[in-house]
Amino acid sequence: MNQDEAIAGLAQLLGESLTLDETRASASVSIETTTEIHVIHAALKQDDAEAKDISRDDKVGGCDDLDADTAAAAVVPPSPGSDDISDGEVSYTGSSSSSDSDDDLAQAAWSGTPPPLQVYAPLLPAGVTSLFSASNSSLEAIADMVIAGKAKHVIVMAGAGISTDAGIPDFRSPGTGLYDNLQQFNLPHPEAIFSIDYFRRNPKPFYVLAKELYPGQYMPTQSHFFVKLLAQKGLLLRHYTQNIDCLERAAGIDPELIVEAHGSFHTAHCIGRKCRQEYSQAWVKEHIFRDATPRCDSCDSLVKPDITFFGEGLPSRFFELLSEDFAKCDLLIVMGTSLLVQPFASIIDQVGPHVPRLLINRMRVGESKAPGVGFDFDGRYRKTPHRDAFVAGDSDEACALLASHLGWLDELVELRTSHISNQGLDLAK
Ligand code: OAD
Repeated sequence: MNQDEAIAGLAQLLGESLTLDETRASASVSIETTTEIHVIHAALKQDDAEAKDISRDDKVGGCDDLDADTAAAAVVPPSPGSDDISDGEVSYTGSSSSSDSDDDLAQAAWSGTPPPLQVYAPLLPAGVTSLFSASNSSLEAIADMVIAGKAKHVIVMAGAGISTDAGIPDFRSPGTGLYDNLQQFNLPHPEAIFSIDYFRRNPKPFYVLAKELYPGQYMPTQSHFFVKLLAQKGLLLRHYTQNIDCLERAAGIDPELIVEAHGSFHTAHCIGRKCRQEYSQAWVKEHIFRDATPRCDSCDSLVKPDITFFGEGLPSRFFELLSEDFAKCDLLIVMGTSLLVQPFASIIDQVGPHVPRLLINRMRVGESKAPGVGFDFDGRYRKTPHRDAFVAGDSDEACALLASHLGWLDELVELRTSHISNQGLDLAK
């Protein structure tokens, strides 16, 4: 695809009515290619703003057909570098603000205006071999692998960053992230809102927040549709998401292909240890939306949606699929996550040592602290060939660029526009 075609595709993403020239001028789209770096600045924000308004005004897809099967797992955090992640060996060990070092946070969340899209091009140490050819950007090299049939079992791992363009805040971005905006609840620390111990004592903050974030009020983003496109092409082995917003399902991705690693709103249970009675999403939603605390009919304990809280085990489905999926994976794409929450963060190391891994995020995250642990974008450790690529910037823009390298941009545009028209939404609103 040449530059004009790419710009034309992006013009469609920006809004069907813009001509190529108008797109260049009004949306400040520019594509620059150098031998070392491939940069695209696509001002999708105007379109995003429209989508946000649309998604707030219209109820667009929920997760009524979710099939969460939350089960308790044992609670031993994986040690850094642990190779084994299996049922019963790991817990949901969020990095509570008390344990987050400032360094970790500074490296994990972007503050201020998002950076322009940039494909990172490292200068590798002498003698380090790379899976990516020197003449292309790593993103083009990854697209070439897919086109050549070398990546047929793609796993996507996602976090809150893929939903920010839908209008849902992420957790840890300074200023805009949820954890910076919970002052009204007077919490001991921000992550207490998702702590099971805190919830037992004071459930109100969670229920108030749940009403705000409840699935069905937001529209999937371009990133969700990119994952859907991977599925349509038969290339998506699984989409592992930490998100509880259900936007993957709203985008129409087959639930069989999704692992909701931190649970979902679909089902709910009484948290009474001996009771555990199940409640429907509709029953809980009805309570939450009239600001009533959902309590169990049988034992009067609190009823909580099956979202995995800090201190709880991940859904059994996560552990059931993990080993087999990651052993098969031949391309890992990680998008919009700070990779600060375990065990999710460590599973990037469960793919084979020669499997390319692509991080799309506003920030570099999840980097090596030891050989074989975490991303190694600079080829510092020689345990494997250099196989980690990084695209800095918004996941929607990066997905559009990757789709353009794959020759799929038209289909990506079509997926989104047909979703919008099926939902009866009007982009021009
Ligand atoms: P975080 O808020 O920790 O990280 C989101 C990451 O996405 C940050 O690095 C942002 O810079 C980046 N980001 C934001 N918008 C982006 C965009 N449009 N494109 C690309 N990158 C973007 O969110 P998670 O990593 O998902 O638990 O957080 C993990 C878990 O911590 C969550 O599942 C949540 C929380 O406690 C529960 O909900 C129970």
